[in-house]
Amino acid sequence: MQEIKFYSGENIPLELHKVRIVQKLHLVPIERRLEALYEGGFNTFRLSTKDVFLDMLTDSGTNAMSDNQLAAMMQGDDAYAGSQSFYRLEKAVQDVLGKKYLLPVHQGRAAENIIALAYVKKGSLVPMNYHFTTAMAHITDKGGQIVELLYDEAYVVNSDHPFKGNMNIEKLEEVIKRHSAANIPFIRMEASTNLIGGQPFSVQNLRDVRAIADKYGIRIVLDCSLLGENAYLVLKREEEFKNSDMATVLKTMTGLADLCYFSARKISSSRGGGMCTDRLEIMKELEALVPLYEGFLTYGGISIREIEAMAVGLYETLDETMICQSPNFIKYLVDSLDAKGVPMIKPAGVLGAHVDAMQVCAHIPQTEYPAGALASALFLISGIRGMERGSISNQRDEEGNETYADMELLRLAVPRRVFTLSQIKYVEDRMHWLYDNRELIGGLKFVYEPPVLRFFMGGLEPTSDWPQKLMAKFKADFGESL
Ligand code: F0G
Repeated sequence: MQEIKFYSGENIPLELHKVRIVQKLHLVPIERRLEALYEGGFNTFRLSTKDVFLDMLTDSGTNAMSDNQLAAMMQGDDAYAGSQSFYRLEKAVQDVLGKKYLLPVHQGRAAENIIALAYVKKGSLVPMNYHFTTAMAHITDKGGQIVELLYDEAYVVNSDHPFKGNMNIEKLEEVIKRHSAANIPFIRMEASTNLIGGQPFSVQNLRDVRAIADKYGIRIVLDCSLLGENAYLVLKREEEFKNSDMATVLKTMTGLADLCYFSARKISSSRGGGMCTDRLEIMKELEALVPLYEGFLTYGGISIREIEAMAVGLYETLDETMICQSPNFIKYLVDSLDAKGVPMIKPAGVLGAHVDAMQVCAHIPQTEYPAGALASALFLISGIRGMERGSISNQRDEEGNETYADMELLRLAVPRRVFTLSQIKYVEDRMHWLYDNRELIGGLKFVYEPPVLRFFMGGLEPTSDWPQKLMAKFKADFGESL
């Protein structure tokens, strides 16, 4: 895609779409935001959107849909079995992801459940570049374990490494030799590795993983939820693909995997999910589980209308002017906060800008959840809802001990084509102010901790009256401003 340069020399991400349907936002006063935090247990998942100004919790199911997607939804063929909508989706998967067989599921984690049910048993080990919360939960739920095999560079916050999501090939082979291929049902590769800041892997790295998988006869499962953005960054950053296109890169990547699965809440800006493969025996192994857990094989728990939107959304993934929007706005936000000294995960990745809470809240020990505290503090002073991606999002080990996250991140998701540049500038402004006032942020402690995926519904409270002090400073600096 050709770059669009500004006469001023500024690097400004330009919206390559127009906005024709809008949704009104409310910025409630800081006093109400403080109440909302106490009501929601200092957990941004538990906030009500009536109190949220900019919802940067996630890009999952929140990317803007296109006019063509909405139009297609009206053509849904409602049928329990044999729906034409399903066949249109199957064709889109064949055309865009290059896989013959499609098994639909209601969302990404449903695929993770079925794949784990089919292949993971007690004693199984699943090597992966890095875990995603739900992927790990489904593997451990079936008695398996995971091992994360990134290169050390992945954990360097301020880096210029283009592919921090790369699998450590040497360690992968070591792990296979140590645990024996018989105990490794598959190797999981996650495109645009979510929890380390939306960082891509290169095509070359996936080829290297393939070579090892072939040597030891192990399947590769590719999580394609963020594959579009990973492919876009391959076009930008991998020399071999400099003059290539989305269609080629996407198919090259999926062609290296035995089984692909995806959350359509991400990759196609709709709802739903799917698993796809060229291998008949894999399709057969998974097929029986779909009607049991999801729904009949031509809808898989997804509404027919959303299936139509998925099909169109998958084709739109081939369009660089669409797929570039979120990464380019993220890059703008990361670079401008970085220029103001705020420690950011660099290089900018996909799905969101990631603030390094370990540095911003260096005075808060990991036992008091610095990333959770930073997420609460930012919401308090701005109405911006981000997501904790640190130790609160981790699960306890088998003995029930806390496992502290490698990175304590505040994720500010930038859903595709949702926010304008002035809204992004507001995020930059408030985060900058918070950084300058970071000493006022204090810790959190759990008061209610669910046993599984605790970050979703867990309740916390501040370890002191720091939220009140932070609010007082905000009012001193901003006066009557919201
Ligand atoms: N894999 C990845 C890489 C994801 O980012 C997600 C979801 C899933 C699988 C699960 O898919 O939500 O459809 O069940 N990520 C969301 C997020 C929740 O906010 O990052 P799902």
